[in-house]
Amino acid sequence: MKAKAPLFVFFKQITVPFIIVFILFSSEFGIVKQVSALGINYGQVANNLPSPEHVLRLLSSLHVSKTRIYDTNPKVLSAFANSSIELIVTVPNEAVAGLADPAQAADWITTNISPFLPYTKITGIAVGNEVFTCQDSVLMDNVVDAMMGLHQGLVGLGLDSVIHVSTASSLAVLANSYPPSLGSFRPELAELIGPLLRFLSVTGSPFWINAYPYFAYKDDPERVPLDYVLFNSGAGMVDPNTGLKYDNMLYAQVDAVIFAIARFGYGGIEVRVSETGWPSKGDDDEMGATVENAMIYNRNLVARQLENEGTPLRPKARLEVYLFALFNENLKPGPTSERNYGLYQPDGSMAYNVGLSSATSTASVSDINSSASWICYVIVSIGLTMGFHGKTV
Ligand SMILES: *[C@@H]1O[C@H](CO)[C@@H](O)[C@H](O)[C@H]1NC(C)=O
Ligand SMILES: *[C@@H]1O[C@H](CO)[C@@H](O)[C@H](O)[C@H]1NC(C)=O
Repeated sequence: MKAKAPLFVFFKQITVPFIIVFILFSSEFGIVKQVSALGINYGQVANNLPSPEHVLRLLSSLHVSKTRIYDTNPKVLSAFANSSIELIVTVPNEAVAGLADPAQAADWITTNISPFLPYTKITGIAVGNEVFTCQDSVLMDNVVDAMMGLHQGLVGLGLDSVIHVSTASSLAVLANSYPPSLGSFRPELAELIGPLLRFLSVTGSPFWINAYPYFAYKDDPERVPLDYVLFNSGAGMVDPNTGLKYDNMLYAQVDAVIFAIARFGYGGIEVRVSETGWPSKGDDDEMGATVENAMIYNRNLVARQLENEGTPLRPKARLEVYLFALFNENLKPGPTSERNYGLYQPDGSMAYNVGLSSATSTASVSDINSSASWICYVIVSIGLTMGFHGKTV
């Protein structure tokens, strides 16, 4: 906080030239195109978000082609028809248990999915969110049956090769994640995780993990190096059992999940990051939740995505990542950070507007389309600025 005033002045002086240079070069080198592999979660726990039509334009202007919604909102699904955006939809936790009945699962698909095909590119169904850590035993006991029912419903419609079924888990399903080679699931979840992994393996579906290095830092800022969680160069650890070098915590967390899955005997399940992000604002006790850190985390992560990187354990398999989230969501309960994960404010202006000119930081949703690639624009220009700032202090 104390460094804020000089920081702003500093940004004003140097950012604009970098933005321009970047935009020029981005089209030159095709950087914009490569970002298309990145996904962004489109959460809507808010009463002030732009219409789905506006959001579609925003995503298109960012050249982001993958998004996930947390329900099956028909307004979103029809607005996204005939666009190039791939959508993962979610069965809300409260609807999961009912779908353990195969007839209801099949019915759910014909009601919520079929009407939008083939024009809306629905590619996945997330059955619940963080079910295994939600303390609801009915939900936990039924989630895999619901997944099987939904999959059978898709098979019946000939859609199972197009739409995969999985569930997104919190990293708290792990009992141990450090070092990655000792990754293991919480023993009390074994009876649930076993059938889940069997299902994913048989159906060729990914294991989705919501992984937030931010939480690790917030919980132990004295011992967890900020550079390591922020993907900053120089930081890192070597896994003593594998000899693999980790320069960031996210990749270590993903590899811990891969090891945990392997302990159940499954080697071929792809692990994808269904959510990761960093809050730009938090309560006094939420260490690290700042605009600066949010910018650095997202900028560094996107840069790694541009390299099509895998994790140290699977370096050749590009790690698929969905950022959380597109917008700040004003109706989310919990600490201040929960409402401040967005790359954008609801009015379409960027949440991280540090050092951007007034024209860009106040852009409305309707203006967004005019920019070549806002996400690169924001993240990389800010990244450059932050890098320079770091060298001057
Ligand atoms: C918005 O962007 C899309 C593609 O990015 C383009 O096809 C369309 O013409 C743009 N619309 C406006 C109003 O500029
Ligand atoms: C999508 O395209 C198809 C075929 O051109 C058309 O029949 C359908 O009405 C379009 N849907 C929307 C929502 O624009």
